[in-house]
Amino acid sequence: MNSERIYIFDTTLRDGEQSPGISLNSFEKLEIAEQLARLGVDIIEAGFPVSSPGDFEGVQKIASGASGVTVCALARAIDNDVKTAWDAIKEAERPRIHTFISTSDVHLRHQLRKTRAEVLEIAKRMVALARSLCDDVEFSAMDATRSDPGYLASVLAAAVEEGAGTINIPDTVGYAIPSEFGGFIREQFKRVPALKDVAVSVHCHNDLGLAVANSLAAVEAGATQIECAINGLGERAGNASLEEIVMILQTRQAGLDRITGINTTEITRTSRLVSQLTGYDVQPNKAIVGRNAFAHESGIHQDGVLKERTTYEIMNAASVGRGQSDIVLGKHSGRHALKSAMEELGYKLSDDELNQAFIDFKRIADKKKKVTAVDLEHLASEELRELSDIFELKSYRVSASSDSIPASDVVIEKDGGRLTGRSESGGSMESIFKAIDNAVGAKGKLKDYQVRSVTEGKDSLGEVRVVVEVGGNAYAGTALSIDVVEASAKAYVRALNNAYRAGVVN
Ligand code: KIV
Ligand code: ZN
Repeated sequence: MNSERIYIFDTTLRDGEQSPGISLNSFEKLEIAEQLARLGVDIIEAGFPVSSPGDFEGVQKIASGASGVTVCALARAIDNDVKTAWDAIKEAERPRIHTFISTSDVHLRHQLRKTRAEVLEIAKRMVALARSLCDDVEFSAMDATRSDPGYLASVLAAAVEEGAGTINIPDTVGYAIPSEFGGFIREQFKRVPALKDVAVSVHCHNDLGLAVANSLAAVEAGATQIECAINGLGERAGNASLEEIVMILQTRQAGLDRITGINTTEITRTSRLVSQLTGYDVQPNKAIVGRNAFAHESGIHQDGVLKERTTYEIMNAASVGRGQSDIVLGKHSGRHALKSAMEELGYKLSDDELNQAFIDFKRIADKKKKVTAVDLEHLASEELRELSDIFELKSYRVSASSDSIPASDVVIEKDGGRLTGRSESGGSMESIFKAIDNAVGAKGKLKDYQVRSVTEGKDSLGEVRVVVEVGGNAYAGTALSIDVVEASAKAYVRALNNAYRAGVVN
């Protein structure tokens, strides 16, 4: 069978990173990008370079570090955005500039305050500018699904004429329903004959829970690129979930007659990495990557699966990379064993990173009998977070009992100097967070605090995620330790590191 190839455009690092509380450093972004390349996505949308110096740096790092994949940068239809996007990606093996402007009347009237004719002119000019810099240009008509189809067609035709090789038709506000969206895409193909000569893409948001269904309807109507994100991350209710759309096309290939270039056995690892680094948990019953997606609870189902897997399973868990690694290390494992286990999990550590990871591994292995692949993946994520920390928790002491006020002392390192802080107040967590505030000179307000165990058993590593408000903005921090008090303190310090990078803490 010669199925049509569908191109997977991953926007985890751009639209996904716009989810509240996500703040990835450039090392974490590169790690995710390298995993996306292993997963086999065709295009990585690495960020929105003009939005902040941190985003620019992240995109630049991915452009020069990722290979075998197109690296794309987003730009509003503004000269400086387009030029900045190009500056960030020009070293990529395969660079793409993605420029966009709204085409719906509601956006034109209230947000852009421009006429249809003005927007048409801007779209033409920006695609032409982008094409003068880069051979591969994508144009998006923002809020396309609420735009007048005739006007939308005129903008898309102009963008193709100016040299855009990919035309994206987003359902920006997640308003479409599948039958209507499929018809909408077919209508654009009819109105703009030149669309058959370019890649037609869709970018669906999940406000009504229909992002994946709408993307599928568009593919059936002739779209050849799907924009999606790991674990369905993205603005508001998120984007179409990459793992779901890919597994639909694979599981139902016989009827749909489409294929992707995704190595589906990397899906689970990618989902876990993104969840760890963003601090966004995957809901247990989430299709494909949720903890329960392949679990059978009822006796009848268990009986059926034991007799013949296909009685209740439409996909093989191994095909999405679940339960494949049997790595187990212990306290006698050496550096070499750690290095090769990390390599098997897809992490390439430099000598310095390996040295630090080995020290941390030994601390864990001293307290925990078996260090598993899941522990190592969390450990590797922890090392990545540490790489860009400015404040580092060096030591802490908390004293608490049922009949005394908890007291905490902390020592924090910054630029080789030591900052100390003390607090006596409330509960033990409150006292340690306040001691950190006192050391750093910040006034943080704890907005959210979550603890979870990484694996089973009393000796499991604990992962803590905090959201701290500083200067009116929220910053998230995640950290891991065998001790939840230490993990809590480190997570809080990490949130302050994010606030520092945003210029809110000195
Ligand atoms: O949702 C949207 O329309 C977008 C565009 C920038 C493609 O994210
Ligand atoms: Zn979007």
